[in-house]
Amino acid sequence: MASKLNPRAKEVYGRLWGYVVPHKLIGGIAVFAMATTAAVEGGMVWLVEPLMDDTLVAQNLETSRWMPLAFVTVFILRGIAGFATEASLGWIGRSVISSLRRDVFRKFLTLPSRFIETHSTGPMLSRMTYNVEMVAESVTNVVTVLVRDSLTVIVSIALMLYQSQRLFLFVAVLLPVIAIIIQLLGKAFRRYSNRIQDSVGEVAQVTDEVLVGNRVVKIFGGYSYELERLINVDESNRRQNLKLIRSRSLGVAITQVIFGIGVSGVIYAAGVESVNGNLSPGSFMSFFGAMMLMLQPLRRINNINATLQRGIAAGDSLFKIIDEPDEINHGTYAPDSVVGTVEFRDVSFSYNGDKSPVLKNISLKVDAGKTVAIVGHSGSGKTTLVGLLPRLYDAEAGDILLDGRSVLDYELSSLRSNISFVSQDIVLFNDSIENNLAYGELRNCSRSQLLEAAEAAHIIDFVNEMPDGFETNVGDRGVLLSGGQRQRIAIGRALLKNAPVLILDEATSSLDTKSERRIQDALDRLMTNRTTLVIAHRLSTVEKADQIIVLDQGRIVESGTHDELIAARGHYESLYRMQFSDDSPTRN
Ligand SMILES: Nc1ncnc2c1ncn2[C@@H]1O[C@H](COP(=O)(O)OP(=O)(O)OP(=O)(O)O)[C@@H](O)[C@H]1O
Ligand SMILES: [Mg+2]
Repeated sequence: MASKLNPRAKEVYGRLWGYVVPHKLIGGIAVFAMATTAAVEGGMVWLVEPLMDDTLVAQNLETSRWMPLAFVTVFILRGIAGFATEASLGWIGRSVISSLRRDVFRKFLTLPSRFIETHSTGPMLSRMTYNVEMVAESVTNVVTVLVRDSLTVIVSIALMLYQSQRLFLFVAVLLPVIAIIIQLLGKAFRRYSNRIQDSVGEVAQVTDEVLVGNRVVKIFGGYSYELERLINVDESNRRQNLKLIRSRSLGVAITQVIFGIGVSGVIYAAGVESVNGNLSPGSFMSFFGAMMLMLQPLRRINNINATLQRGIAAGDSLFKIIDEPDEINHGTYAPDSVVGTVEFRDVSFSYNGDKSPVLKNISLKVDAGKTVAIVGHSGSGKTTLVGLLPRLYDAEAGDILLDGRSVLDYELSSLRSNISFVSQDIVLFNDSIENNLAYGELRNCSRSQLLEAAEAAHIIDFVNEMPDGFETNVGDRGVLLSGGQRQRIAIGRALLKNAPVLILDEATSSLDTKSERRIQDALDRLMTNRTTLVIAHRLSTVEKADQIIVLDQGRIVESGTHDELIAARGHYESLYRMQFSDDSPTRN
């Protein structure tokens, strides 16, 4: 069968085998069990001859005595072998699923932000669920076919030859015909399989969006729109699956019809042979039994092409992900701690090649412990700029230096361990408040550190009012908390990290004065003694900054202190009048 695969398919299957190979021992058991099954089933059919001729026709007492015993033994062996086959193949299948899933997940963890942000989540999710299952099903099916079914076919053929070579000729003529039909039908499978995978991903995507965006759907009346979207992708999924089912069952039906024609030929020939005295009833029944025994495995061999193609299509998309390059991490410099001088040297950047530069020739120096506030219109590149420091994206031109060394020189995790980040849209995980605070490497912090950070970030205030305190679950993305509470948890997390460099993308949501003051207070503590790059929407933040830079369409158009820039009556002054004129944070 492998000879029919194109090189890419062969490669995919080869790699899938790589996931099976570590389970050699269990695989050995499976092979042994399957071989036993084939042999036992052959034995069963072989027993039909003495059963008919000796026990029933010749009425030989001797045979009548051992015959039941032989059948019991055969069935017990078959049961044991069948169990061992299922259990060992199941074990291998589930192990393959786990390893693949872990490999894909590991890749998700280390893929560059660019890749993740430019690919939809739905198809990524379906890879973790649907594709890995398809692959395992394919692998175990192929193993079954390669070993048990092909052995059963061989045993059946041997039995048929043993019972009557002439009759076998009829059967032998049929086999190549069936093989050709299998080949013709096989082509369609891979195409459908690919489409099914795509549509499974789309179904996941639409569903995910509806659940996440349920409030928007409700308020903006997205009910019928979303339903229509789902029906569209689901309909395509249904149609592709039906096509697959049709072509598969057509294959089975055609094979059966051909087999049926063969069977009638055999019956006719058997009559002729019997009249000539060349065939005993027992031999014929045994021959017929062997032929029937072969039917099911042949059908599976036919079907396996569909499963094989499905497995290849599923495996292919998994390996495409697994083969995606990781974030670039060639740096080796990993200091215990950094002082925290940050410098951007003539940095330019665009998200999609040269087409639309988002940052142009940015130069900026922040001394250790100082604060630079970045202001500018929405879309001017503020978030992009600060994201280059922890290397969420890499600058295309120019250099970014931390303590005078290029960020590219740093070992990636070492670089990031020195940088705290409070992002514009706060990300919380579906876990307790405590685990969201002490996230990742912060997990090992002491209780007192945790409480101290919670205190400083004014988290204690609301945690104490919650029935489960720090154990309170925050819901998906933190939906069970208020916006201000989420912000404070993000600030608390950054406090707990206690890194020398802080990036603060101030959230623009409006808060009441009391909450605002609390957050402001938490931020002030967070910024003390750290090099801070703050994207500021609050007047108090900009006023206190050691330096302010004004970004406009990716360029620094002004820089200086608040007073200097007000006096200059330029961009900042007009921004200031629009944005910061009252002391409340507003949307820009
Ligand atoms: N992940 C991304 N992929 C492609 N383009 C992006 C991405 N993120 C931002 N952009 C584009 O880059 C430009 C700058 O975006 P950025 O988020 O840096 O603006 P900003 O100054 O932070 O705006 P705001 O004040 O609204 O947060 C925008 O035109 C935006 O469309
Ligand atoms: Mg932004």
